[in-house]
Amino acid sequence: MDALTEGYVTEDGRRIGGVLMEMKNITLRFGGVVAIKDISFDIREGEIRAIIGPNGAGKSSMLNVISGFYHPQEGEVWYKGGVRPSMKPFEVARQGVGRTFQNIALFEGMTVLDNVMTGRLTHMKASIWEQAIWWGKAEREEVHNREQVEKIIDFLEIQSIRKTPVGRLPYGLKKRVELARALAAEPSLLLLDEPMAGMNVEEKEDMSRFILDVNDEFGTTIALIEHDMGVVMDLSDRVVVMDYGKKIGDGTPDEVRSNQDVIDAYLGVAHD
Ligand SMILES: Nc1ncnc2c1ncn2[C@@H]1O[C@H](COP(=O)(O)OP(=O)(O)O)[C@@H](O)[C@H]1O
Ligand SMILES: [Mg+2]
Repeated sequence: MDALTEGYVTEDGRRIGGVLMEMKNITLRFGGVVAIKDISFDIREGEIRAIIGPNGAGKSSMLNVISGFYHPQEGEVWYKGGVRPSMKPFEVARQGVGRTFQNIALFEGMTVLDNVMTGRLTHMKASIWEQAIWWGKAEREEVHNREQVEKIIDFLEIQSIRKTPVGRLPYGLKKRVELARALAAEPSLLLLDEPMAGMNVEEKEDMSRFILDVNDEFGTTIALIEHDMGVVMDLSDRVVVMDYGKKIGDGTPDEVRSNQDVIDAYLGVAHD
């Protein structure tokens, strides 16, 4: 599959494009701890790509490299056909990489609507001065931002809680609000760190459906970390398997499931 440059068509008929992001020989150390050891893989346009592996394998670290939170000591990150220079997370976000966090990071005292609005910050071009002096531009921008946010709120079916402070919501809905905020930025690549962790079966089903719908409706490329193997196998087009910072498998869910290294390291044992 890696030899394909033009993309491929999935079993369910979705068209996957060329390489959007490529990690080349990434190594990341924290002092003496090697969180990522010489890992390479790519993410294709339109794909749902999963990263799996036991706790401490380096999965979150990998998403943090992609989102610019961590800077690897070795290797290159390629994005949209070129090497990405070392960047701050907000600059990476501006280039169209959105994310949610393993531990929810929302403003608990603010309403759902205001939280989702913060997702538009990367798109706000009018400065404070322009907002004061050149009222028209700032207002047009504000109207457009509101429209985008309302579209996402409708799409994720959270209209009924738009005025509710996030702190009052149950966990599953908070996760959905975090997804809404990430989507409000209209990312080309969306990174989801354990979007279904701690959810009950029904919440997981809802979240799975929303992830598929986002991919389908907005064409968003998605890279996600998930522990529930059923969910991973159902959702993802291709899977990277990590163990102790190394990549031990990479392929379709079927390929990964039958990979002996993966079975030994991960699938055969409890992992939480
Ligand atoms: N900011 C950090 N400082 C020091 N060590 C870290 C940091 N982040 C992660 N690590 C270490 O890197 C390894 C991989 O962690 P992580 O990427 O969180 O794994 P996973 O998400 O697969 O559970 C672990 O040994 C962890 O303790
Ligand atoms: Mg993690």
